Amino acid sequence: MDNIVILDCGSQFTQLIARRVRELKVHSEILPYDATLEQIASRKPTGLIISGGPKSVIEPDSPRLAEGFFDMGLPILGICYGMQLTAVHFGGVVRRSTAREYGRATLIVKEPGCPFFADVPERSQVWMSHGDDVEKLPDGFVLTAVSEDGVASGMRSADGRINAVQFHPEVFHTEKGETLLANFLFKICGCKGDWDLGNWAEQMKDEIRKKVGDDKVICGLSGGVDSSVAAALTAAAIGDNLQCIFVNNGLLRKGEAEEVLNSYKQMKLNVTYVDATDRFLKGLAGVIEPEKKRKIIGETFIRVFEEEARKVKGARWLLQGTLYPDVIESGARKGAAVIKSHHNVGGLPKDMNFQLLEPLRELFKDEVRAVGRLLGVPENIVRRHPFPGPGLAVRCLGDITRDKLEILRGADKIFLDEINRAGLYDEIWQAFAVLLPVYTVGVMGDERTYARVCALRAITSRDGMTAEWYRMPHDVLDRVSTRICNEVRGINRVVYDCTSKPPATVEWE
Ligand code: XMP
Repeated sequence: MDNIVILDCGSQFTQLIARRVRELKVHSEILPYDATLEQIASRKPTGLIISGGPKSVIEPDSPRLAEGFFDMGLPILGICYGMQLTAVHFGGVVRRSTAREYGRATLIVKEPGCPFFADVPERSQVWMSHGDDVEKLPDGFVLTAVSEDGVASGMRSADGRINAVQFHPEVFHTEKGETLLANFLFKICGCKGDWDLGNWAEQMKDEIRKKVGDDKVICGLSGGVDSSVAAALTAAAIGDNLQCIFVNNGLLRKGEAEEVLNSYKQMKLNVTYVDATDRFLKGLAGVIEPEKKRKIIGETFIRVFEEEARKVKGARWLLQGTLYPDVIESGARKGAAVIKSHHNVGGLPKDMNFQLLEPLRELFKDEVRAVGRLLGVPENIVRRHPFPGPGLAVRCLGDITRDKLEILRGADKIFLDEINRAGLYDEIWQAFAVLLPVYTVGVMGDERTYARVCALRAITSRDGMTAEWYRMPHDVLDRVSTRICNEVRGINRVVYDCTSKPPATVEWE
């Protein structure tokens, strides 16, 4: 199988490069920029891509690749920082740009006959984002493209094995980005383009069977896409040796537990359902501080899950729906500040001695959705928006009571129903209601009311790391607000959250 290894120099677009390559049916994976030559070679790459990055190659502590990287004899594509690094390595000169280019720019191809620029018109739009540029190409390199402002925007080695561009072909705004990546993969690396999720799923089933043999595997289901698809895949491999546990923490949306259980029944999964609502709500009583709420929920979940897991005799494996972005975030990119303590079942007691089974750890979310569809996972699960582990607890500000949760569930359901009715669900990353600990005065009929405020939040995002507030059509907002005030007792005012992330986070707590 062809494999493209991407060396991550810290660009916000690195994962996007990997996805674009996979969309062209070539497998790709990301390694940190300081991966050793042995690590890179062990991935059996067909070609290498050096990503962009926020640093300047002129700074002494900027990312450098393993010595000998450029001598591995493999095709290389350098993008932005990757181009500057390539230039410096071969003796070229990089300077601070006189004008930082950020955003759309016009590219002019100087060498239309070269394989990398095949089928790209002389002028096209590209996405630039750089503070440095290549002032002098290394000896023996050929200039293949410039920007309208005269910045060197493409170069190649004399033999064409190494290509580099100043702009970002992986970004949607680069008109011919896909053609350029395809040229690199197929014309320069000679990839076949036969990476396919159907084959991947078959191979993964074999791998799971080989790994776990006749052992039992347990899995915590959450109703979300990742754990559900991981379970569907594993069940397809080992059948009833997979025992799933679905814990209702009492913090789910209206009707969610029933709906999800029903879907699991359709999928013929072996599921133990545990309604631990009382235990969670008791632990949370009177707690206001968001981090404390999260801690209590995390710990209670582990205890409940542990009790159930101990009942499954002979269970040796714990199945988790870890995805590729989680792997990259926790491995290659250390040192990020902890804003909120997200959690999962990683904290089970050591004496339980489980081995981790993470069959989705090389997939992106959209690939997981595609595998889910191949395996017949119901659409309502495959399409589902992400939902946080602590559930409605982080959307019910202040202390948590059953009454408040009921009010919040009512408002949230109306919001989602109307979004679905307007056909907007799939273009939104997440949408939900938040119940505020604030009372305001209103008037209903001729009566004065003094009731709570509900905030609505809808965002678009690629990965939840950053997000933009969703421009919800006013008529939808109008219907939602009218219905909430009329139908949900306890709310008399509705506001819409128009804050992106950053500066806000997605959840209010
Ligand atoms: P924030 O609020 O950190 O959310 O901007 C980013 C994304 O993560 C989800 N989220 C969580 N998911 N456990 C989870 O599994 C958690 O504790 C948790 N907190 C936030 C949030 O819904 C959004 O998609």
